[in-house]
Amino acid sequence: MRTELGAGLLAQQASASPKYLYDALGSKLFEAICELPEYYPTRTEAAIFERYLRDIGQSVGKGVTLIDLGAGNCAKAARLFPVLQPVQYVPVDISVDFLRDAIERLRLRYPVVRMTGVGMDFSCSLELPAEVRRDKRLFFYPGSSIGNFTPEEAACMLGRIRAACEAGGGLLIGVDLVKERRVLDRAYDDALGVTAAFNLNLLRHLNLLLDADFDVSDWRHLAFFNDAQGRIEMHLEARRSVAVRWSGGQRVFREGERIHTENSYKYTRQDFLQLLERAGFGRVKTWTDERGWFMVCHAHAV
Ligand code: AVJ
Repeated sequence: MRTELGAGLLAQQASASPKYLYDALGSKLFEAICELPEYYPTRTEAAIFERYLRDIGQSVGKGVTLIDLGAGNCAKAARLFPVLQPVQYVPVDISVDFLRDAIERLRLRYPVVRMTGVGMDFSCSLELPAEVRRDKRLFFYPGSSIGNFTPEEAACMLGRIRAACEAGGGLLIGVDLVKERRVLDRAYDDALGVTAAFNLNLLRHLNLLLDADFDVSDWRHLAFFNDAQGRIEMHLEARRSVAVRWSGGQRVFREGERIHTENSYKYTRQDFLQLLERAGFGRVKTWTDERGWFMVCHAHAV
């Protein structure tokens, strides 16, 4: 982790993986983002799930092993429990302490569902503990988190999910769709500055992880839609020339130099269906909102 972070900071175009946005405070700031009027994905996806819950439940079937990738506070999966009646719930997240609290609360509400929390970085490996049932695995990957990967990486990730499914398995995934640039830009640069705080908090996390000396007030949040790449980019831009030291390295960032902290790819329906098929998924059902801003897909392992 230190090596990966150090190399990212020293690269000509400095970068840090978006997974480091989610320390305890970062996870809470992301929850706050989801409440913002400008941040449509969470709300739009929730509305799709609410409206088509029966349909989705019918497509998926009951008694699944529900594997929740990037579970966070587990709230999205919990809303599916009444229709999917999972035999086992397996929330997976890199932010372990956050996950532990969430599972504890969920156990009180659903004492009959077997719960197996897994603290791991599933972008590296999807090796699940032996306690996770192999039967009827449904991978749940909501929120368009797949957008953090490049399309090539997304294809790999979907392939790995496919490989972890046996016959009868599948994927329930939320995908953010390409839309008007104005809507996209605002969703990642909100008026209250919550997304800015979320992005800047990465520096505090780096200070902790790397024993670095970033001063948050030296940096500004930047987010915009990159048309050519079909993605939102988030950066931290140096407000002035700053020298930063950490255990294992140091660098001077000139005024205006940036650390690239996140990509959030937006797909067309067709392009995403193609990715699913390339990864070995088929018999895909999709649901969207009226504006066509967001899409939920259920795909079978074929
Ligand atoms: C959690 C990756 C889906 O890309 O919309 C929200 C993260 N970053 N605001 C997204 C995020 C800035 C979010 N994902």
